[in-house]
Amino acid sequence: MPTRVRLICLALAGIALVTHQSWAQKSSRGFHPVIPKTWDDAAMATLEVPLADPVGSPKHVSADYYYKMPVRPIYKEYPIYAPDREPPGYLEWLKRQEPVILWGDKGHGPQLVTREDWIKAVEMVFEASAQTRDGCPGCHTPPLYINNKLTPAEGFTPPPDAEKKYDILPASVGTDPNLALKTRRGTGYYKVPSLKGVWYRSMFGHSGWCATLEDWFDARRVRDDYVPTGFIPYGAKTYAVKGHPFGLGLKAENKKALLAFLKSL
Ligand code: HEC
Repeated sequence: MPTRVRLICLALAGIALVTHQSWAQKSSRGFHPVIPKTWDDAAMATLEVPLADPVGSPKHVSADYYYKMPVRPIYKEYPIYAPDREPPGYLEWLKRQEPVILWGDKGHGPQLVTREDWIKAVEMVFEASAQTRDGCPGCHTPPLYINNKLTPAEGFTPPPDAEKKYDILPASVGTDPNLALKTRRGTGYYKVPSLKGVWYRSMFGHSGWCATLEDWFDARRVRDDYVPTGFIPYGAKTYAVKGHPFGLGLKAENKKALLAFLKSL
């Protein structure tokens, strides 16, 4: 065999050996979970019963589009305290903290080599979505728009063993605690309601203070001179519908979009 050919053969064998070795090393050391695609065009198409007039039937985005959407970063979270349990100066301290991204698109993320690494990372994703309060999905989690959790009414501290028995989101949404605390139906908690079908419901909030979704998201509802469009406590002329501040501060066009979206669920 001429030297040149021999050299080429040797080089090829070397390359084959090196690539084989690195593949073998990776597969013996690392854990490679098979992550199923959850947004599947054919499966999505079977999830909705078409409307009688198909013009109004929901059209889902394509899987292609879905997987192009930027992934929301997971930020480091801090404890939420009931108003009377907050350590002095806590809110001021919190405001001085810089946001810390634990897992984002641009490079920062947990180490993902072993099976244990993966399990820890998934735990982080679950905890983040259960705790986050800045978006509706933390509580009204798609696809059923509910996280199946209880939230303590304001002023109620769950007993020590409650967490073992119930699925509790340890934060109050701050709505009127009387139904949960002072009536025979009271358990101390309010359930997170599902937003599925919210378009055909009325009388929002657990006592039905707001006749329409527009009223539930009207920032004026928390004022003392507010006249509720739904239930008003006996004898009252005005009543502040306090709590559940989510979405109240949205700009007009964003609120319009939110309401249109809610009515499509
Ligand atoms: C921390 C959890 C949490 C977050 C975040 C949250 N909600 Fe809620 N939501 C609740 C709870 C609990 C209730 C029931 C409160 C009550 O009636 O006392 C509720 C009630 C509602 C209702 C009234 C439903 C009904 O049938 O009365 C609507 C509509 C609603 N939420 C929409 C939203 C939207 C939109 C967002 C985001 C802008 C949001 N929620 C964020 C927990 C949450």
